[in-house]
Amino acid sequence: MSTNTIHILNGPNLNLLGEREVAIYGIDSLDDIEHMCREKAGTFGYEVVFLQGNGEGELVDMVHKARTGSGLIINAGAYSHTSVALYDALMALNIPIVEVHLSNPQRREDFRHHSYVAKTAVGSICGFGAHGYSLALEAVASVLKQTNG
Ligand code: DQA
Repeated sequence: MSTNTIHILNGPNLNLLGEREVAIYGIDSLDDIEHMCREKAGTFGYEVVFLQGNGEGELVDMVHKARTGSGLIINAGAYSHTSVALYDALMALNIPIVEVHLSNPQRREDFRHHSYVAKTAVGSICGFGAHGYSLALEAVASVLKQTNG
């Protein structure tokens, strides 16, 4: 894997975007978001590996594979709030991590207020819908520029 690759990982139920609770998550499908991410990353000279998985172990495996890339954007869905396994996998990475949520979990149920992913990330982008992925790419590209010049 080349070092100009950014992995974008999506957790459980995000395959249903565009159909699922559209008032909260918006009308864009995950395919729409992937397309937008590839275009946006291209403007910074990065390629994208864009993946979605419903299983916790599946996401842990995806994080392991991201070790060879230059940055990671992750919307871990509900596992953000529950998964120590995902936290451990993310802590083992030596690349910048940005957390994304389409909704703003802080404005929602209490059980969404804690994020294990947030503890591993440079920062979190929440509440801006699909545009949050674009903002996350800008954030990762900017961190990498500061680090690598
Ligand atoms: C989410 C927020 C999570 O709390 C929720 O479980 C999701 C989606 C978001 O993108 O807003 O599945 O990660």
